[in-house]
Amino acid sequence: MKHYLQFQDFTADEYEYLFKRAALIKQKFKGYVTHHTLADRTLAMIFEKASTRTRVSFEAGMYQLGGSVVHLTTGDSQLGRAEPIEDSARVISRMTDLVMIRTFGQEKIERFAAHSRVPVINGLTNEFHPCQILADIFTFIEHRGSIQGKTVAWVGDGNNMANTWLQAANLLGFKVHVSTPSGYEIDEKLAFSGRPYNKDCYKIFGNPMDACKDADLVTTDVWTSMGYEEENEKRMKAFADWCVDQEMMAVAKKDALFMHCLPAHRGEEVQADVIDGPQSVVWDEAENRMHVQKALMEYLLIGKQG
Ligand code: CP
Ligand code: NVA
Repeated sequence: MKHYLQFQDFTADEYEYLFKRAALIKQKFKGYVTHHTLADRTLAMIFEKASTRTRVSFEAGMYQLGGSVVHLTTGDSQLGRAEPIEDSARVISRMTDLVMIRTFGQEKIERFAAHSRVPVINGLTNEFHPCQILADIFTFIEHRGSIQGKTVAWVGDGNNMANTWLQAANLLGFKVHVSTPSGYEIDEKLAFSGRPYNKDCYKIFGNPMDACKDADLVTTDVWTSMGYEEENEKRMKAFADWCVDQEMMAVAKKDALFMHCLPAHRGEEVQADVIDGPQSVVWDEAENRMHVQKALMEYLLIGKQG
């Protein structure tokens, strides 16, 4: 049994399969062709943090695969009343076929997975957001072809998204040019969970303009991630120069794309004329969450198809 707790849990070959499968699944969805490969299967979704895209994409996706979903939050389950995570895992995984969790520390999802009878998917932790990078790379491939050998500029916080981009670069053979304000750098040991990696898969730049130079993709994220709200005021000051604007896009490649996992704050991490401009693919990126996660759920439950 496989879990999907971080991006590096899968191999490059598995990603090649998933991207192909997601393209087929998307094509069928667009053509209203029934694709009930997970009929009678149940997905449990556990949210300890807010969500729009993750909830809708997993829930709609599971129904489209012929299955059903159970939605739990900390507030309306015993998870919020200190039932041990191990006990919750044992119980929930006896009644469902697959579990998606959005929570705080990565160790929580790992403890859940260790006591689960069914595959567990990371729907975002403080450390990683693998489903989002799966969608982002699928979106890049749709627009520009293979990401191998390309350069991705990361402008902003050394957070869950940044860590996951690094894992993807290491695995799929592209480069991340990272620029974070000082005090918000990526912790590389944490980013790779202590596993070996190729040092050349990323490069640090003090100035975000330098990180964006000749990039094929410029991407950013909120200055304050969920769970860090009490640092908001301090972060607003520290991140002021890490706002993706037309100047940054102008030094990237002419055909560079702009991505943002959303939700976005126009005027903070990105200017409106960038996110709403012609290089932005953020709506495709959001939609693709559903298509790639359908491929992922299928793969975890019934393996490679076709
Ligand atoms: N990008 C993303 O995960 O969005 P939600 O927080 O709305 O799920
Ligand atoms: N880094 C953000 C991503 C939200 C989808 C957060 O963790 O809040």
